[in-house]
Amino acid sequence: MVHHEGPGHLSFGGADVVELAERYGTPLYITDEAVVRANFRRYKEAFASVDTAIYFAVKANGNLAILRILAQEGAGADVFSGGELELVNAAGISLDRVLFNGNAKSEAELRAAVESDVTVSVDSREELQTLSAIASELGKEAGISMRVNPDVSPDVNPKIATGLRTAKFGIPYEEIVPTYAEAAKLPNVAIKGIHCHIGSQILELSVFKEATEKMMRLVAELHSRGIELEFVDLGGGLGIAYEKAKGAAPLPHDLAAMILPTFKAQTQALGISPRLILEPGRSIVGPASILVTTVNTTKDAYKHFVAIDAGFNMLIRPAMYDAYHEVVVANKINAEASVLSTVVGPICESGDFIAKDRLLPQVQRGDYIAILDTGAYGFSMSSQYNGRPRCAEVLVHNGTVEVIRERESFEDIMRHQVLPERLR
Ligand code: LLP
Repeated sequence: MVHHEGPGHLSFGGADVVELAERYGTPLYITDEAVVRANFRRYKEAFASVDTAIYFAVKANGNLAILRILAQEGAGADVFSGGELELVNAAGISLDRVLFNGNAKSEAELRAAVESDVTVSVDSREELQTLSAIASELGKEAGISMRVNPDVSPDVNPKIATGLRTAKFGIPYEEIVPTYAEAAKLPNVAIKGIHCHIGSQILELSVFKEATEKMMRLVAELHSRGIELEFVDLGGGLGIAYEKAKGAAPLPHDLAAMILPTFKAQTQALGISPRLILEPGRSIVGPASILVTTVNTTKDAYKHFVAIDAGFNMLIRPAMYDAYHEVVVANKINAEASVLSTVVGPICESGDFIAKDRLLPQVQRGDYIAILDTGAYGFSMSSQYNGRPRCAEVLVHNGTVEVIRERESFEDIMRHQVLPERLR
């Protein structure tokens, strides 16, 4: 939660953001543990009336401490790579509560999943065959679900609409039933569930109902052919309120109200009780972090620019999706917002902006700008572009502050680079 208090300083999770910026340096990701826990619990409560498991989408935030907190809360995980599988294992998330997703899994990744008994969300018929062969070779059984392309169109940036007919994810809707029939005959493959994910930052929830209806139609069709499923995974995608003037975002209980009636009616009609799985990422961790930066310079050109020490290297969402994030001047929180400002990063590209044409207080070199709601797809999408080490992350918990990721150094820029002998 963001609170404005003290001598014009932004407070976050009970900590003075300016003090943290001075103690740890900037850029700095600050995460409020209480928000992560509260957002997770909201899902548990909203879906308590059916057997539900919440599989956190690790791509949103792969910090080990944050994953550990979610493990303590009882989260499973949606992983999209062998690396994310390693992360959740290290965080103590039980591997029988992990789904291995991905449209281009390598042979090594499929092997790792089968070896550790992790259920695989199969993305193509080819992958189904490969997986069966790998499982046979290892003398194991591969638990599978299939990623359905449900052909629904949420009203979001096309780059994050994953359930469109033309998206690269999943098996076409019409091919799902025959592909399950194929899987049922394959050796060393055990059918566990069915899966879809329609997109991200969804605020208009009716598409979830549409997807649930389509998925439950498949469940019924499979049931009629004697194929029973242990789970129905409807993915993630619930949006958050990035732009405060546009009001609050729907919450997990709104999502529950949208999808549970269909889910319950269908399962009751069929006399089955599959577990419901959801894979939220953003709505759990998005609002739980801020990114604090320092103003390096200001400039009055054709626009008034405020140039800070983090750009799309540390937060790519504005540059990549034209995404909106609120920005506040952390050390002048009570000052009047009177200057139309465009906040840009230090990266050598004109697409490197954080916030366009916002009213901010007059700022100068050394002021601190906090970018809000950066806990999802913030650090996890960062890079070392332009030779910039990645920043540190701290966790705020009941007034205490702990480092949960050290700031990289220039050595990290050099790490793994090899200068061949003949070039020395
Ligand atoms: N499950 C699957 C299979 C996914 O592909 C995703 C996100 C999720 C769950 C979690 O969705 P969420 O609840 O976070 O919306 N980088 C983009 C978002 C990409 C989402 C990719 N898939 C952004 O910064 O907006």
